[in-house]
Amino acid sequence: MCGITGYAGYKEAAPVLLDALKKLEYRGYDSAGIAVLAAQPLENSPSGNRLFVRKAKGPLSVLSERLSHETVAGTLGIGHTRWATHGEPSDVNSHPHTDVSGRIAVVHNGIIENYARLKEWLQARDVVFLSDTDTEVIAHLINYYYKPESGGGLLGAVLETLKRLEGSYALAVVSSDFPDRLIAARKDSPLIVGLGQGENLIASDVTALLAHTREVCFLEDREVAVLYRDHVDLFTGQGEKIIRAPTHVDWDVEAAEKGGYAHFMLKEIHEQAKALADTLRPRLKETTTGRDISLDEIKLGDNWAAAPRVVITACGTAWHAAMVGKYAFEHFARLPVEVDIASEYRYRNPVTNPDDLFIVISQSGETADTLAAMRLAKKSGARILAVTNVVGSTLAREADLSLYTWAGPEIAVASTKAFTTQLMCIYLLALKLGKLRSRITDADYARYLKALAKIPEQAAAVLAKQELIQKFAARHFNKGKVFFMGRQFDYAVSLESALKLKEISYTHSEAFAAGELKHGPIALVDTNTLVVAIATQTALFDKIASNIREVTSRGAASLVITWEGESAFAAIADEVFTIPKTEDCLSPLLSIIPAQLFAYYCAVQRGNDPDKPRNLAKSVTVE
Ligand code: AGP
Repeated sequence: MCGITGYAGYKEAAPVLLDALKKLEYRGYDSAGIAVLAAQPLENSPSGNRLFVRKAKGPLSVLSERLSHETVAGTLGIGHTRWATHGEPSDVNSHPHTDVSGRIAVVHNGIIENYARLKEWLQARDVVFLSDTDTEVIAHLINYYYKPESGGGLLGAVLETLKRLEGSYALAVVSSDFPDRLIAARKDSPLIVGLGQGENLIASDVTALLAHTREVCFLEDREVAVLYRDHVDLFTGQGEKIIRAPTHVDWDVEAAEKGGYAHFMLKEIHEQAKALADTLRPRLKETTTGRDISLDEIKLGDNWAAAPRVVITACGTAWHAAMVGKYAFEHFARLPVEVDIASEYRYRNPVTNPDDLFIVISQSGETADTLAAMRLAKKSGARILAVTNVVGSTLAREADLSLYTWAGPEIAVASTKAFTTQLMCIYLLALKLGKLRSRITDADYARYLKALAKIPEQAAAVLAKQELIQKFAARHFNKGKVFFMGRQFDYAVSLESALKLKEISYTHSEAFAAGELKHGPIALVDTNTLVVAIATQTALFDKIASNIREVTSRGAASLVITWEGESAFAAIADEVFTIPKTEDCLSPLLSIIPAQLFAYYCAVQRGNDPDKPRNLAKSVTVE
């Protein structure tokens, strides 16, 4: 997730853009840049180019410091603050990106899924690329379609370019040949037009507009805006004009940063449908023989597919994703899996073989114990595959391969969208390995991929039922003990559910493999206990049902999270929360969502700040 902005008005554009980027920096802070239409042709610019571009790796302060030593007069420009997805953080990978002439500049938020093919197509036409990003193809395509003599102008070139793009984008374009306008377009990434007095702006969200105006137009998918200082024209992707009345927004800046949600955690819980789609979609390809998983970015290759064992290590929530991975790799790839908490792995003198598939999961890519475990495994000759959310993180730089979760920055300390997108990456790996190892029939593979493709919309359906969880939390937030239990995939989700609740509501919460209850934990069950049973493993419904009876007969309140249409638990549990049916083995992608919401609403009911829980940090970079 990046932040883009643009300004057309009478004020100096550079300070306006920097201020807007400051408001957007929570969306990404790997690098920042601006492009301004200078009032005069740039010095030593042979072609009279007026496009002034400055960009720098690092937080916005680096760019601001660089710009403090030079000024550029100009009242129109665009800006970008980056969360890297393609191409690690660097000056050259920073936005804006320009075409070969340096007369067209582009900033972009999103993922151009077909960028590799477009890049090859352009390179075959002698276009030289400077960066490793997907975005750069946009600048070169606009230049390719921009024929001043054709009269189609900049807008025509942008519309032709948009027809070639697959994936998500919120983008803004400026050109030295059109110093009075900027062009903006969106598909699947947010973009808002701010309508001021003698000035107009665009931004990824409202926060960057409020200093100028509260009159906004939310661009719809495939719409295009052309901003001038005194008016804005809206178009469809086919170039037909649109008339739209502005919307008045009352949000304050802080509320706007949270997208109108009360806390980042709730915003990020709700971002999961999109984060799952962003993580899945570029890796699910239609081929002549049907859907297939494409992990070209990590070139799994035969030696990885031939690995005799999978070892996964991580901490906290990432370790719970690893636990789901244990069941997933065994289920799909029929591979033995060892899962270890990183702080345990690194000190137990582990046996690690060079031909193990060693997976390290970390949202931040900076967790001290996880990095130490990874380095120890490397010493044993193991090949490291990182699953991480941060391009250019220490883990990503030291691993042999990195498979990224495209969740965007996760601000809340309690990890939510990072977890579900980690699961998505794990499922893609396990299914791909199962296929490469011929452990999955073509029919089953097709069925699993069909189910996977539906997950984002099913996640949205679960999120739409949040009010049921909010009411349940209002009844049970004061329980002395909350136990989560489940079997197999549901046990792994129980572990994550218990962590969510304890870390933000400070309720004593534990997770049990349901079959373990009678081996001790049931002694803790009393009338001040809530037990949440996660029941999606259809073949084990009888088992979990008897566990539910065991706890309710001892006075515990009970909630069951199970499939829509399932009636096995209505008579034995106090409450049943249902999620859309998918394959039992994919259930964690959905069953964790009600648990996240439950933890959030319990924390709020107890007066806690879910975004900043006591004693905890977002990234544990010390031991
Ligand atoms: C999860 O909600 C916690 N914030 C914590 O357990 C976290 O998952 C753990 O510290 C690992 O962080 P990482 O994924 O960045 O390595």
